[in-house]
Amino acid sequence: EGNDGVLISNLLKDTGLVTLDSGFVNTASCESKITYIDGAEGILRYRGYPIDELANNSRFLEVAYLLIYGDLPDMDTYAAVVRRIKRHRLLHEDFKAFFTAFPSNGHPMAILQAGISGLATYYQHTLDPKDPYQIELSTVLLMAKVPTMISYISRRAQGLPLMYPDSSLQYIEDFIRMTFGMPYANHDVDPILTDALNKLLILHADHEQNCSTSTVRMVGSSEANIYASVAAGVGALSGPLHGGANEAVLRMLSKIQESDMTVQDFVNKVKNKEDGVRLMGFGHRVYKSYDPRASIAKQSAHDVLEKLGKSNEQLDIAMELEEIALKDDYFIERNLYPNVDFYTGLIYKAMGFPEEMFTPLFALGRLPGWIAQYREMITDPATKIGRPRQVYTGETERHWIPRSER
Ligand code: ACO
Repeated sequence: EGNDGVLISNLLKDTGLVTLDSGFVNTASCESKITYIDGAEGILRYRGYPIDELANNSRFLEVAYLLIYGDLPDMDTYAAVVRRIKRHRLLHEDFKAFFTAFPSNGHPMAILQAGISGLATYYQHTLDPKDPYQIELSTVLLMAKVPTMISYISRRAQGLPLMYPDSSLQYIEDFIRMTFGMPYANHDVDPILTDALNKLLILHADHEQNCSTSTVRMVGSSEANIYASVAAGVGALSGPLHGGANEAVLRMLSKIQESDMTVQDFVNKVKNKEDGVRLMGFGHRVYKSYDPRASIAKQSAHDVLEKLGKSNEQLDIAMELEEIALKDDYFIERNLYPNVDFYTGLIYKAMGFPEEMFTPLFALGRLPGWIAQYREMITDPATKIGRPRQVYTGETERHWIPRSER
């Protein structure tokens, strides 16, 4: 805002001037009360709470509630939320056919995006973003049904039967049971797995106006329903420069492991920008210091591998990559540090998830953030339909000539 209270963007609009900010490096698209990041200091807070306090003490649904409603739930509220979500975990029986209609080796993110979009056809009574009752119900439906979808996608990819949710189990326990196919309701799910997944989902739960969240807001700004908007976010997340990086990190580590290249050779390749190769899981638009989520994920990777008694050569390669990069001028000058994706794939792998499921797990974690941001956007009176301008660099006026004369 200028001194006289007039929005500078409105002044620019009146003069016909536009700002060009490729990749929105320095353009705020909204005001938000949800997530705070200080990229220089490596600080991340959800609704004011430091990420490490939440990751070390909370349950994922508690953090989801915090992001969506603004405060941590008390005992009764939390119990009611959990109960409500449990009641909606089933997918319509007809919807099962949808998951078997895709090639079984199709990427899970493509199927997930289509599946979330498809929820709009089954729950047509929840599509009006301006109706508080409908937005409340669609929030619960998304939180309840997306884990069911992800486990269906994972099971189907392996040619295994799809399993029904079991409402006697907790959210994460039941997701693991359905995905890995433990048949009995009272089957013990290893607490090492549930604790690790709980932590990872919390770490991913929101990250202010990143690529996928901005996409959710952009689509929602046209008053498109929440399913269409979140599905668009899944599409944005699938890219290797965003959520797809967790899968790309594992591919990179395998490549180094299987080649005769040393870790230093690979780092040199990155520095020389050979074939455009990047150190996946490194660098961030906002963090110019260590990503606080990466430190928690790194510790968790050590804990999980140790508790599961798995030695892991790829973790050793990752540590060596980090050690070399953090001492190298190329990375120091560009402020390139590990981001959240650098260590998470190793944890998912140790837990037994196939690589192509890593990014859907990120999506499950990010779901409450997308919902919270959509809801904030739709209820903010300042929201306008997203419509960036451009700087036109094409032809000036020219005139049509018949094809035979071109
Ligand atoms: N490896 C090697 N060099 C890198 C890397 C990397 N991972 N990231 C950035 N750089 C270099 C660029 O080549 C560029 O160098 P230059 O100035 O010599 O041209 C400089 O650092 C700045 O890079 P930009 O691409 O301009 O930075 P930007 O902020 O646009 O990109 C991004 C951020 C996309 C995350 C980038 O760092 C990257 O591609 N990282 C690897 C992919 C990744 O891990 N993505 C996950 C991000 S976290 C998340 O989405 C959850």
